[in-house]
Amino acid sequence: MDMSNTSEQWGWLSKILHWLTAVLIFIQIPLGFYAESLKLSPLKMDIFVWHKSVGMLVFLLLILRLLWRIKGTIPDTVNASRIPQYLAQGAHYLLYGLMILLPISGWITSSAANIPIKLFWLIPLPALVGPDDAVKSLAAEVHEISVCVLLAVLVLHIGAALRHHLLLRDNILKRMWF
Ligand code: HEM
Ligand code: HEM
Repeated sequence: MDMSNTSEQWGWLSKILHWLTAVLIFIQIPLGFYAESLKLSPLKMDIFVWHKSVGMLVFLLLILRLLWRIKGTIPDTVNASRIPQYLAQGAHYLLYGLMILLPISGWITSSAANIPIKLFWLIPLPALVGPDDAVKSLAAEVHEISVCVLLAVLVLHIGAALRHHLLLRDNILKRMWF
């Protein structure tokens, strides 16, 4: 299997980045809701360290992924009609945008709340902004709205992948799989 993408197939690097990110985000969403639901306690702090660490890992993988995507080719679209093609592309750009917006808004929320971030209890991140209640509320709001949009787009994205595989019976899902 090739590392690079071709016009027919995703290469293994793109596949690994796609599926690793997907797994991390499926952990990340419940982790965020769970962290929020807890009362202030050492457990809550620990869950938030996990949430921030996994979230920044997603961000790091995203940067690699975008660099790799800009550098190489991507497989051709296979849809005959234009509307689903635009929908798919729109969903993909939205997903990329959300994977930037979520970590940055989370990072700003923590900074504005004056809570230092230490990824996996090891790597300190600098504060992006100084302590500020208004900025904190705004960033938390952006984070939360992004979560809602993410959930909606993922339903479409996964629904479309299953539709291709089960109904249209083309190779869209297969070419992203190993
Ligand atoms: C959090 C979860 C996920 C995210 C953030 C995500 C994101 C993305 C993005 C951004 C692309 C576009 C790749 C590009 O053109 O550069 C993509 C492609 C794809 N995704 Fe996902 N994805 C997720 C989960 C899933 C799941 C669960 C499935 C299958 C059930 C799936 C199936 C696919 C397929 C088949 C493609 C390739 C489409 C093509 O070859 O044209 N994804 N994904
Ligand atoms: C892919 C990335 C991420 C996803 C999917 C995600 C998802 C979530 C979810 C579902 C919640 C609970 C609902 C809410 O209040 O919004 C949440 C809350 C939160 N997340 Fe994230 N998150 C991500 C990245 C990050 C990062 C990187 C940080 C910090 C560095 C972070 C910091 C926070 C904070 C501080 C809250 C509580 C917000 C509040 O006080 O309302 N998140 N996140």
